[in-house]
Amino acid sequence: MKILVTGGAGYIGSHTVRLLLERGHEVWVYDNLSTGHRAAVPAEILLTGELSELHRLDHVLMEKRIAAVVHFAASTYVGESMTDPARYYRNNLVNTLNLMECLRRQGIGRFVFSSTATTFGTPERVPITEDEPQRPINPYGNTKLAVERALADYARAYGWGYAALRYFNAAGASPSGDIGEDHDPETHLIPLVIWAAMGRRPHIEIFGTDYPTPDGTCIRDYIHVDDLASAHILALERLEPGKGLCYNLGIGRGYSVREVIKAVEAVTGKPVPVKEGPRRPGDPASLVASCDKIQRELGWKPKHADLKSIVETAWNWHREHPKGFKK
Ligand code: UFG
Repeated sequence: MKILVTGGAGYIGSHTVRLLLERGHEVWVYDNLSTGHRAAVPAEILLTGELSELHRLDHVLMEKRIAAVVHFAASTYVGESMTDPARYYRNNLVNTLNLMECLRRQGIGRFVFSSTATTFGTPERVPITEDEPQRPINPYGNTKLAVERALADYARAYGWGYAALRYFNAAGASPSGDIGEDHDPETHLIPLVIWAAMGRRPHIEIFGTDYPTPDGTCIRDYIHVDDLASAHILALERLEPGKGLCYNLGIGRGYSVREVIKAVEAVTGKPVPVKEGPRRPGDPASLVASCDKIQRELGWKPKHADLKSIVETAWNWHREHPKGFKK
């Protein structure tokens, strides 16, 4: 299939592009390289451009005879979305609706969308199933949910086949060792703990030790980026006109911040200096996915079903690329 991947030079995008290519799809990456990395994708499939350049998008969709779009391009920092919501409504909502309009003009109705566990806000029940009410508590979650709703309406009215994949905590790196996580600024727990183990930062600060969890720190469901990637491919190959495939994507098991620190110490063999700090505003105590639905309906199964194996791949990447991708 001829596929356009927006944001394909980013962390989850680049791992998905690699898998799509391995599956024999014809892939084009559309990325403005604001957070993505040129070195993360083969040069010959990279098209640099803004999502706001609609004429260019129309041209690309037509010229490359695109049949489906996998849409990663987005702003993804919860904290930044609180202080600069306009950026999130523009990048994540307006730009996505414009992209969807281009698709409609070109008669393309296949769309795989990067959504997030953040659309659930503070869930009533953990593990979180797809029936849990979606009530985001920040602008980032609001913009992602708004697109999910628009897609459901497009499926009903225009017969689109779409998937909305709600990621829990993406982590790890390709076992090949040549692509991995490289954010600026880095805010995610696993890379920051690894940096503390490497001495690249003085310590890791634990954001809150008084949560109602067994060790007082927040619990998250860390999913390997290649397992996220494989879910995109399964979903893409199962899209049906008029139907939405909405799945929560985690491994169905949560780990506390302290457990992550222990796993990094075990994998790297280095001690991690820790500082206990206050809670970070907006962090729910526990977010764990129920991944039963995608297992049942698409036969998806995570290859990395435990934290250690995820951390090993992340450590491999950071050890080999202490400064991330070559700029
Ligand atoms: N944490 C620390 N210290 C740090 C960084 C993080 O204690 O220096 C804690 C956080 O408080 C949280 C956990 O580690 O409890 C994980 O934090 P991350 O920032 O790595 O990830 P989040 O769970 O906050 O958010 C991630 C993505 C979001 C996405 C969300 C969906 O960053 O984009 O998962 O659940 F929306």
